[in-house]
Amino acid sequence: MCSFEFHSVPGDKSISQRAIVLNAIAEGKGTVYNVLRSRDIESCIAILRQLGVTIAWNGDDLSVHGKGLRGLQAPAGRLEVGNTATSARLILSVLAGQSFAAELGGNALLSARPMDWVVQPLTDMGAVIEYLGTKGCLPLRIQGASPLSPIEMEATVFSAQEKSALLFAGLYAEGITCYRQRCQSRDHTERLMHYFGIDIQSDNDVTFLKGGKAFSAKDVMVPGDLSSAAFLLAAYAIRRAERKGSLLIKGVGVNPTRSGFTGLLAEMGLHLTLQAEAELISGEPIADIYCTPGTRLSSVLAEGNGRIQSLIDEVPLLAAVSAFAEGDTVIRDCGELRDKDTNRIQTTAGVLRAFGVETSCSEDEMVIHGGRRLSPAIVDSCGDHRIAMTAAVLASSLDEPSIIRNCGCINVSYPGFVEDLSQFADIDVLYAE
Ligand code: S3P
Repeated sequence: MCSFEFHSVPGDKSISQRAIVLNAIAEGKGTVYNVLRSRDIESCIAILRQLGVTIAWNGDDLSVHGKGLRGLQAPAGRLEVGNTATSARLILSVLAGQSFAAELGGNALLSARPMDWVVQPLTDMGAVIEYLGTKGCLPLRIQGASPLSPIEMEATVFSAQEKSALLFAGLYAEGITCYRQRCQSRDHTERLMHYFGIDIQSDNDVTFLKGGKAFSAKDVMVPGDLSSAAFLLAAYAIRRAERKGSLLIKGVGVNPTRSGFTGLLAEMGLHLTLQAEAELISGEPIADIYCTPGTRLSSVLAEGNGRIQSLIDEVPLLAAVSAFAEGDTVIRDCGELRDKDTNRIQTTAGVLRAFGVETSCSEDEMVIHGGRRLSPAIVDSCGDHRIAMTAAVLASSLDEPSIIRNCGCINVSYPGFVEDLSQFADIDVLYAE
């Protein structure tokens, strides 16, 4: 029996972006350690540089010389945010608080995703935003206002990005900005803002932020990305019993608002424990994840908006693992997946069916009929990094080769993925994009 050990997975994408943007609008210099070096992060950094922020890499660490809340400069041309919805929404909020105008555009996938639920509150706070193409989407032009007016809003979607966008804009508002949510979404923004000394109070239902005050840059350690570790956990979970050893992944962020997938894997029968649990000074919990084989995987019911939020990026993977479980797995309340890089309900179902897994789906639900043998497949990622990696994980379970087309998008979030997955399967990269 072999064992698999990963000394790290790349830094968390959500926390990397928040820590970089917060330091960019702070006073002084902050270093962000163990930053994810991926395409999404490079897009975020490129935009901040165009806004006059000095940012330098040193290995996987990034020093950011903050410009203060209102010290950014007007960009010379359109800001291109590429694929990253998180950076688009955070930076839009920062632009809302500036005294200049800017244009923001994204790649084809991002330009098809909704921006209106961020644009509306920013408009209510005083920014003037004009869509330059399709209504509700990028590209757009934003004329900031200084100061913004604080607002109180109810969540309109289940999204940490809506909440985070409002809180970043709240930094530019004189007074108290308030966000009420129907269920908890990932709370990295709240934890980081608290660590930065920003006046923020939050519980599951409501967050208050007192804005209008400068704050100092901070050093931030970014934990390993649980959403990247999830691919290795899934690849391990679906290996045939006779091929399993143990699996250890070190230094992973295990924030409870993100860890729904590990909880469900344990419910399905994988023996999974957290070791060396600790809390980083930025308030993020971190641990080593250790797994040994369970008996057989059993199907689960995943439902409820809070639970689905805690594994929103892992739903395609959960569906993939479910193909190896006895019985039918039902995933409800996952309608938010229609607005990801692709409509992930459809693209996930398409990949599963290509591998011979009977899958049915509706607007916000998927049913995966598990327990039957998969067949090798030729599938296209449709440019969606999580779909490409989910397909690769499925392929890793088979002795016969599969082909996954359009894999360059993996660099959006997990550049070392192919190398890491190679511990579980033989992989040939046929061409690089
Ligand atoms: C993210 C939040 C999630 C997630 C995305 C990153 C974030 O989106 O899907 O990959 O960094 O806030 P929603 O908050 O829109 O669900």
